[in-house]
Amino acid sequence: MNSETLTITDNRTGKKYEIPIRDGAINANDLRQIRVSEDDFGLMSYDPAFMNTASCQSKITYIDGDIGILRYRGYPIEQLAEKSTYLETAYLILYGELPTKAQLDEWSRNVTHHSILHENIKKFIDGFHYDAHPMGMLVSAVGALSTFYTDAKNIFDPGSRTKQTHRLIAKMPTLAGFAYRHSVGMPYSYPDNDLSYTGNFLNMMFKMTELKYKPNPVIEKALDVLFILHADHEQNCSTNAMRGVGSSHVDPYCAVAAAAAALYGPLHGGANEAVLRMLMQIGSKDKVPEFIKQVKEGHGKVMLMGFGHRVYKNYDPRAKIIKQVADNVFAVTGRNPLLDIALELERIALEDDYFIKRKLYPNVDFYSGLIYQSIGLAMDMFPVLFAIPRTSGWIAQWEEMLLDAEQKIARPRQVYKGAGKRDYVPIAMRK
Ligand code: SDX
Repeated sequence: MNSETLTITDNRTGKKYEIPIRDGAINANDLRQIRVSEDDFGLMSYDPAFMNTASCQSKITYIDGDIGILRYRGYPIEQLAEKSTYLETAYLILYGELPTKAQLDEWSRNVTHHSILHENIKKFIDGFHYDAHPMGMLVSAVGALSTFYTDAKNIFDPGSRTKQTHRLIAKMPTLAGFAYRHSVGMPYSYPDNDLSYTGNFLNMMFKMTELKYKPNPVIEKALDVLFILHADHEQNCSTNAMRGVGSSHVDPYCAVAAAAAALYGPLHGGANEAVLRMLMQIGSKDKVPEFIKQVKEGHGKVMLMGFGHRVYKNYDPRAKIIKQVADNVFAVTGRNPLLDIALELERIALEDDYFIKRKLYPNVDFYSGLIYQSIGLAMDMFPVLFAIPRTSGWIAQWEEMLLDAEQKIARPRQVYKGAGKRDYVPIAMRK
């Protein structure tokens, strides 16, 4: 007997089945042959929230959550954070290899030269209410780009995909900058092609009346490292949305809008904003034990935001790097007073049985907000700061899905638990 198989006995019928195991997984479709009768649909697997289901094969990002390993295309996140730049890492994620000097120059030039938005997008953003959340504006505006680039629907044309990739990576920071300037009532700041990717983003956020904005190199570098850390994270909620929505063959702007919408939620990319609000609500270090008590007694109702992860059951390796970045930034901006509360939360949580038993450790969002706040970025912008770099990951995963012969339109099954057949009751006869 082939040892790479699983033998199943169906106790309803007494029949035995041998199911192949490939790459540590069985194919859920192989369960369909397990039936009690000819007209039986066949056995399904039930897995709400994809707790134990691989939805794709991927060559992009590797995570070992038990020991805290994260690699993009095989390269450890620690090495990329230390030695690479966001644009180089985005190239790696998208195309599978680190670029040569010529490839990187061309890639950077292409991204830089697509950063300007059509002027009508300004009018679109002008239409938002003054207190609109920048993430809501970003989600809508990136979806609206689909109406400006009608060639984007040619998703099986490699040339068109490349063009939309340049546009999306280049325009996300501009959309983000415009959304922010609208929310604070400031004139839009246009992209400056002389600056780096993150330097230009800071220019679009903070430029005042000076003729040329000069980013602080420490802040520019810190933001670049944060962008590297956020670039991809395999099949998280927003990437799953990108793949799922993209599987209907909609254009990539609409699929990115869906992914960004998924990211907005406080359990996902909205957590960095929620962490800051939580730290401010706690208020001081001496209130931390009381807050921890509320979390433990709340049983899921009061969350320690920025803690826990579906995959990491050990420290999130990105959180370790972010702590180092925070030191560099605070050396320039001054120490964020909320840091003491965060450190105390972490110290107590890591010693507490409730968190140890559930394997809850700080995730990528726990310290990133403190850095963003120290740089002067508004809390509302934090999820937006996640969405900008994650765009490269979303596009890489979308393209991988499109070119994977095993993929089709995403369409899960369900276990129906509703009413059986019943006849329509006229309104006058309803109780
Ligand atoms: C991101 O998936 C990715 O890769 C995402 C991401 C990426 O790069 O794309 O890494 C980015 O989204 C980071 C996560 C940001 N979210 C938060 O920080 C929000 C707080 N965290 C939790 O809501 C939660 O930990 C999740 C959503 C991150 C993970 O949820 P799971 O895997 O579904 O775990 P669970 O909710 O079933 O929790 C298991 C237990 C429960 O207790 P019991 O019911 O067993 O008693 O742990 C408890 C939970 O109540 N728990 C927490 C907690 N997280 C889980 N208790 C207190 N505080 C928390 N933060």
